[in-house]
Amino acid sequence: MKRAIRSFGGYADAQLRRLQNAIARDTLPQSEREQHILKSVKNALDDFNRRYAGRETGSIRNYIDRSDNPAPDSGGLYDGVLCARKHLSNRERVCMDIRNYQAYISAETMMGPNSVRILAELFDRYPLRLAPEDLVLDLGCGTGLTSLVIAKETGARVYANDLWISAEENGKRFARWGVGDQITPVCEDANDLHFEKKQFRALVSIDAYHYFAGSSGFFEEKLLPLLKDGGAVLVGIPGLKEEYAGRARELLSDWLGEDAYMFKSPGDWSALIGGSNRIDSVETWEMDCFREAWDDWLESDHKFALGDRKFYETVIQPYTCFVGISVTLKEIYGR
Ligand SMILES: C[S@@+](CC[C@H](N)C(=O)[O-])C[C@H]1O[C@@H](n2cnc3c(N)ncnc32)[C@H](O)[C@@H]1O
Repeated sequence: MKRAIRSFGGYADAQLRRLQNAIARDTLPQSEREQHILKSVKNALDDFNRRYAGRETGSIRNYIDRSDNPAPDSGGLYDGVLCARKHLSNRERVCMDIRNYQAYISAETMMGPNSVRILAELFDRYPLRLAPEDLVLDLGCGTGLTSLVIAKETGARVYANDLWISAEENGKRFARWGVGDQITPVCEDANDLHFEKKQFRALVSIDAYHYFAGSSGFFEEKLLPLLKDGGAVLVGIPGLKEEYAGRARELLSDWLGEDAYMFKSPGDWSALIGGSNRIDSVETWEMDCFREAWDDWLESDHKFALGDRKFYETVIQPYTCFVGISVTLKEIYGR
């Protein structure tokens, strides 16, 4: 078992710890334990092959991880999906490389500041540890660029939901990108989703959450029921710097008109997520990727980028930021 932990990294490590927990509870017969180990190893290999298929021979370098493997959980029964970077071993602390997605970032797929950069910062800060059979909801996925990145980076299955872009259009794009089997396109309003309850291990939403989630009770009533216990939420959206909280209409209307009210500060978003007893922790913060994400968008020749350029120096840069939101849910035998 120790050798398997060393060989297959974070994912197998997490699976094996779940297994150890199950063994500790003495709930699995021996044959199922062995099947479970075999499946973990196969999934990790499939994941590796999927991620690195097509790389030229010799283009992947291996480094020896000299850190100690984390000790198996002794107290808690489950592993979290979301893992703060500081808790990772050196091997797990590999940042997402956005250059892998450069070919997909274009005027066709961009709908605002570079969503791949926003997602990269969220993943770098809170890597999602998922199994291939886990489901992730990408809510407000637009053209599906973020869904592609989520699928590639986590290896999990993704439901790519959007309102303005049809499932048919996104489905064709996913097929063209070779991820049609891993990503399911859906076209539904976030206010009226028809997914099964407790279906998703994670929910990700980039540059979209502010359009539909700004009323109190929305998170608890509409989204929380879809998430599994122990699940995680990662959101990156444009918002107001904390010092301008509550002044969106006054400061942003010249740029955004009627939509200005959607921009809220990190503190406002934290209050809107609320304090359901299923929530373990909520963190909101001003993201670091602001300048780069905006530069990529403003340099593009997208027609909406031309409009935004006029307001960058006078409105966007002085008053706004990207708000990062991370929510973790309690495990089933919650503390
Ligand atoms: C600026 S785009 C961002 C798309 C994508 N996440 C990205 O970063 O490239 C905002 C997206 O939010 C989606 N959206 C807005 N209101 C929505 C709602 N009520 N339900 C689902 N999606 C919604 C739109 O369809 C649109 O594609």
